[in-house]
Amino acid sequence: MMDKLKKEIPFLWKAEPKEQRHPFTREDLEKAKAFMESFRPFLMEVFPETKETQGMITSEMRALPEMEKALSLPKGKLFAKFDNMLPVAGSIKARGGFYEVLHHAKTLAEEEGFYQNDPLQLLKHRDFFASKEIEVASTGNLGLSIGIISATIGFKVTVHMSRDAKEWKKELLREKGAQVIEYAGDYSAAVEAAREASKEKGSYFVDDEQSPYLFMGYALAAYEVIEQLETLGIEKEDLHVYLPCGVGGAPGGIAYGLSILLPKAKVYFAEPTKAPAVLLGMLTEKHDQISVGDIGLSGKTLADGLAVGKASSLVGPLMEGRIQGIYTIEDETMLSYVKTLYETEGIKVEPSACAGFLGPHFVQEDGVHLAWLTGGRLVPEEIFQSYLEEDRAE
Ligand SMILES: Cc1ncc(COP(=O)(O)O)c(C=O)c1O
Repeated sequence: MMDKLKKEIPFLWKAEPKEQRHPFTREDLEKAKAFMESFRPFLMEVFPETKETQGMITSEMRALPEMEKALSLPKGKLFAKFDNMLPVAGSIKARGGFYEVLHHAKTLAEEEGFYQNDPLQLLKHRDFFASKEIEVASTGNLGLSIGIISATIGFKVTVHMSRDAKEWKKELLREKGAQVIEYAGDYSAAVEAAREASKEKGSYFVDDEQSPYLFMGYALAAYEVIEQLETLGIEKEDLHVYLPCGVGGAPGGIAYGLSILLPKAKVYFAEPTKAPAVLLGMLTEKHDQISVGDIGLSGKTLADGLAVGKASSLVGPLMEGRIQGIYTIEDETMLSYVKTLYETEGIKVEPSACAGFLGPHFVQEDGVHLAWLTGGRLVPEEIFQSYLEEDRAE
């Protein structure tokens, strides 16, 4: 297997059954859910587009019959979870990012004594929040999530972007009022620099590699899955879930949430052949102590959201006994899925978001195959067109 990793050959690694660790409970999940429920009026007030979902950061699930045909799905039915359309931040990083920053704002307001159980009161204290700083490192989409919600509340926010972050994501963040610092190094280097800068300034650091708030926020998607399977009348079918994976925070949180609320779900992660950080960590059991560079891989992939060299320290050990496996996928395959998905279903996503579609070819079983579309709503039209053209050049 290590040979396939080094040679960048796509393959499925099947995880050994192992005992699960339980640092988070159903109660932690319920708490996060109740928190986000209480902030629905706030979100509808500051982001009118969330009125459509009654202030919930939630996405649709539905079948993709045309894509299913185009992929010649070996078995079962193809469905997608549309996190590419999540309100405001347009990616899988929205649920966790919003939960963490809103929770931080509420905690500060309580400490300051101006919070009396009404989230809308936060809006009257922009001057206070402007004196507080939030810092985050990102390959792009976490930065958008944290940057947008923080700036909306009034926080001073700095986003440390790795070399793989796209120019349009940086521009959009600056437009929203965030400060963007760019790094020539990879994601791990940006995280280290951000952590140091934050320590020096005494700012609040949103740590995608360790934060329990981000993790529980991501996990909330599991509630949506259960409800939507029932609405679609497919709750009795076997369920295979395919999640594109970078450091592992977002897919890890969702896998964790599903393991509590819907243990029958079989979860797989998908990583680029050029940056299989979580797979390498789990395979060697070294988790965040090994980098893809250590086995000669560049970590450079056009799936910018997944362009990380090292796994989150939180996630690797927590995925033991919780996921069925991890597979790798080539950049060209993701690009071809971007194009096919657009041509068959008219859906626009970014390359990282497509990695789930290879899953059913490795897992040839009956049931529902749920490809998690993880980002794309904010991609500018000309950038999306360039993805289509890149594929044509292959
Ligand atoms: C579009 C997209 N998909 C998937 C992921 C994976 O999330 P994580 O890095 O938490 O594994 C990201 C991360 O930014 C992303 O932007």
